[in-house]
Amino acid sequence: MTPETTPVHIMPARESVPPVESCTVVIFGGSGDLARRRLIPALYNLLLDGLLPATYAVIGLGRRDMTDEEFRQVAKEGIQKHSRQALQEDRWAAFAPHLFYVMGDNDQPETYSRLKARAEQVEQALGLPGHRIYYLSIPPSSFAPVCEGLEQAGLAVKPQAGTPYSRIIVEKPVGRDLASARDINAVTGRVFDESQIFRIDHYLGKETVQNLMVVRFGNSLFEPIWNHKYIDHVQITVSEAEGVGTRASYYEEAGALRDMIQNHLLQLLCLVAMEPPYSLDPNVVRNEKMEVLRCLRPIRGKDVERFTVRGQYSEGVAHGQRVPGYRREPGVNPNSTTETYVALKCFVENWRWSGVPFYLRTGKALPKRASEVAVQFKEIPQILFNANASEPLSPNVLILRIQPEEGLAMRIISRVPGTRAQTHPVEMSFKYSDVFGRPSPEAYERLLLDVMGGDASRFMRRDAVEISWAWITDILDGWAQQDLRWLPEYVAGTWGPVEADRLIQKDGRTWRVL
Ligand code: BG6
Repeated sequence: MTPETTPVHIMPARESVPPVESCTVVIFGGSGDLARRRLIPALYNLLLDGLLPATYAVIGLGRRDMTDEEFRQVAKEGIQKHSRQALQEDRWAAFAPHLFYVMGDNDQPETYSRLKARAEQVEQALGLPGHRIYYLSIPPSSFAPVCEGLEQAGLAVKPQAGTPYSRIIVEKPVGRDLASARDINAVTGRVFDESQIFRIDHYLGKETVQNLMVVRFGNSLFEPIWNHKYIDHVQITVSEAEGVGTRASYYEEAGALRDMIQNHLLQLLCLVAMEPPYSLDPNVVRNEKMEVLRCLRPIRGKDVERFTVRGQYSEGVAHGQRVPGYRREPGVNPNSTTETYVALKCFVENWRWSGVPFYLRTGKALPKRASEVAVQFKEIPQILFNANASEPLSPNVLILRIQPEEGLAMRIISRVPGTRAQTHPVEMSFKYSDVFGRPSPEAYERLLLDVMGGDASRFMRRDAVEISWAWITDILDGWAQQDLRWLPEYVAGTWGPVEADRLIQKDGRTWRVL
């Protein structure tokens, strides 16, 4: 596919760049992995693209003892290694003086008075108005102490006309089950107004994920057939090639269900299954997504075994490297039953999706990094070109490629040229990189800009977080009752345990080969 006109169509103003005012971004967990790999590079890229406000400050807060200079060095290395656009010395020289560091323990009240004094001093020196964004890039167990610390130091100001704003970004996971999610929501909700809270799921900032709504509602083609009459099933896959790496201490407590399904995959499911919202207003969109979560049939009791599979990788080769079995990874309990793979089948019980299974799967140490949503349409009647029952034609599939080959493909049946009446499935495809030519912004760039602009559409609302945790907690409870000592294994670098194949094969279907 090629664009009809050049230059390519650019999104309308409403969607492009929200206006942003000068602000201070405080990163809790400022010396951590996420700040170094994603957040600071994202801010730097916003600067390169001319999207940062005229003045700004970034204050990293962490337990490590560092000077501003040392923090800037860590930031620079993060940009050199992980930035979408390469580090340019002159732009770096403009960016670095806006970065500051405050050492502090999240549990100590003095941390907040120190932060307050530093923020005020920096804001005065840079002429900033005092708008503040607090980014909680820390474990969920620290969310409550940080909110309370901010409140006690007078750093969390409820919205009031004429006063600078305070906003808080809560990194996932918001809790580890329904009860803990509710506790976190209760504290954040007491200290901040819901309009000030931005619960991040970085998948919602990915260009291709945003495109799901555009494909569905910007084309007349899909909506009439987007239902149980025409769709056989949907497969949502988020496959990662890497193992757990250096994140064992977090991952041991999380596992694939909490780490990926509760947020990223359920959000993708919502975008595929939602009804058309009547406007792009954040709450209207989020209401429609919420309806999907409400309609998810619970997976409880005996159904947990029927509808879910979990697995753990054993030693093998993934992304070209030898990977030890999960239980032998540094920092992992040798008897761990944390799942590194989940496959499940679920149903959205409403008129549109009646009887249509949604198959979800995600895992670490799989053969490659590839995420997609595949909508498989029903088979055609067994007449004409499909008359040979022993060789049925492949049904149409619409594939929305989330990453890394961002794009969209449609499998259709075509005639093979020649004298014999032969047919063959072919793929019509479009790749972002071919058509638009420029790399998409990273999800965190879009989302940080959204928070600066006060646009919450791409963030999770409190009720959605709780309802998705309620659904996930049923599965967790079912697993706890199984009390397994060993999970089904898959060799690192393969597509998950055989049990996952059986889950879908029972229904006469197979996983797509990615
Ligand atoms: C994070 C998970 O939310 O998403 C990680 O905690 C996972 O375990 C990551 O690796 C995947 O994100 P992406 O953008 O690389 O697909």
